[in-house]
Amino acid sequence: MSSSPSSVRAVDIAVRLRGVTKVYDSGVAALGPIDLSIAKGEFVSLLGPSGCGKSTALRLIAGLADPSSGALDIAAASATTHPGHRIGFVFQEPTLMPWTSVRDNVGLPLKLAHVPAAEAQPRIDAALAQVGLADFGDAFPRELSGGMKMRASLARALVTRPDILLMDEPFAALDEITRFRLNNDLLALWRSLNMTVLFVTHSVFESVYLSQRVLVMTARPGRLSAEIRIEAATRDDAFRASPAYADACRRVSDALAPAYTGVHAL
Ligand SMILES: Nc1ncnc2c1ncn2[C@@H]1O[C@H](COP(=O)(O)OP(=O)(O)OP(=O)(O)O)[C@@H](O)[C@H]1O
Ligand SMILES: [Mg+2]
Repeated sequence: MSSSPSSVRAVDIAVRLRGVTKVYDSGVAALGPIDLSIAKGEFVSLLGPSGCGKSTALRLIAGLADPSSGALDIAAASATTHPGHRIGFVFQEPTLMPWTSVRDNVGLPLKLAHVPAAEAQPRIDAALAQVGLADFGDAFPRELSGGMKMRASLARALVTRPDILLMDEPFAALDEITRFRLNNDLLALWRSLNMTVLFVTHSVFESVYLSQRVLVMTARPGRLSAEIRIEAATRDDAFRASPAYADACRRVSDALAPAYTGVHAL
């Protein structure tokens, strides 16, 4: 079953792009025009060939770059969110500062926002606990495994209590077992923290496992070519082994294939 992005009610929208394009100064038309709406609390994955503009889309939504045309709306921060910190960003590389502790790395966004230490410390502790790193606050990044570095990077995004979490291929460099574990932990956090998640991945399997909706993009300049809704009663090992999962993976793969041959589905 699929539904048009416009079926999301305006009041429930966390992120909306209308006719958004991005042309870099170099002249590269990286993205769009693209129209998409993400409902509050939704988990959506963005899938597409390398260079189609996925990271560009995240950067526009995060306000790290400006669209060349079109309209971009981000829902107002909720009352419980620290002003100005409604969007969290997890980059593909953990990008931790090597010279300081995990605790200081996780606390960096609060320091930049001038949050007093007395308020910051419990929030850092909470974020470390949320990602399973409660005992590693005093460790240095070099003492962490790849998966733990990614957990620290996730904690650094969560410490701002974001309404919207943007994740750019966060688990791509991890082995499969670690990736599965982080997938499950991310799902648990998404449920308990009531966040909207936009997740970029190259993995069809990962996108289907995690998301309620998979958006497939064309080759550059990326536009949406398909939207696949994933219905799942539970997201666990049983789902991964189910015919419904295999069927959804096939549908996403089929939708993705034209982008790799230069023939677009839409
Ligand atoms: N800052 C920039 N200046 C100029 N061109 C850029 C910039 N960032 C990205 N591009 C170009 O825009 C296009 C889209 O890049 P983007 O990083 O958004 O793709 P992507 O879908 O995230 O790719 P990947 O899957 O490989 O991460 C590419 O051609 C890239 O070279
Ligand atoms: Mg990218």
